[in-house]
Amino acid sequence: MRIDIVTIFPEFFGVLDISLLGKARQQKLLDVTVHDLRDFTHDRHRTVDDTPYGGGAGMVMKPEPWGEALDRILGDPLPGTVVVVPSPAGRPFTQAEARELALAPALVFTCGRYEGIDQRVIDHAATRPNVEVREVSLGDYVLNGGEVAAMAMIEAIGRLVPGVVGNPESLTEESHEDGLLEYPSYTKPSVWRDLEVPPILLGGNHGAIAAWRHEQQLERTRRVRPDLLPDGLS
Ligand code: ADE
Repeated sequence: MRIDIVTIFPEFFGVLDISLLGKARQQKLLDVTVHDLRDFTHDRHRTVDDTPYGGGAGMVMKPEPWGEALDRILGDPLPGTVVVVPSPAGRPFTQAEARELALAPALVFTCGRYEGIDQRVIDHAATRPNVEVREVSLGDYVLNGGEVAAMAMIEAIGRLVPGVVGNPESLTEESHEDGLLEYPSYTKPSVWRDLEVPPILLGGNHGAIAAWRHEQQLERTRRVRPDLLPDGLS
């Protein structure tokens, strides 16, 4: 999968060199390029923002540098390329969306700062052939910019790209994959600071363990996230 990121803070994405995603990049499973938006400016101050039309607080990101950056990146897009615009005004990002985006051949993340990017940049990108634009929110809170949101999404999506996670089974037995929260996990020693591992997990009865784990998932989801449960289970 090809991933392009446009930002005024390329340093933010240094973390993509480490851990699982760093390994996936080395193995060429993920082909990530980070672009500095200021490289697409032409003035001495490398200006990327200006005051909003209509007044109001804050600054808006100017369309010209974004247009040039996207012209470069989306010059000849692979069919199915998705431009992801992290924004608190977007649709909520979910595991289902991560699964869908993991199937795309190419993703472009546009990291806005200040009060966001001039809307015409997003509207124009949506007119490009072979390109779909999605405005996506990480949650109902406001970050200082799209960088942290893009990082979170790239991690959630990247780990679903085939080959990135060594044991694919570990992807199916986790929170949100079956609509429920994950069951609690334990490892050795069986007693730690007087706290015991639930005895059923030590017995080797796989059917009983699976049933216990499912019950734990339901209990935890009812307690912490009842909104996730279908009506019959709440
Ligand atoms: N940029 C600022 N806040 C955001 C959020 N909650 N989700 C995605 N991008 C953002």
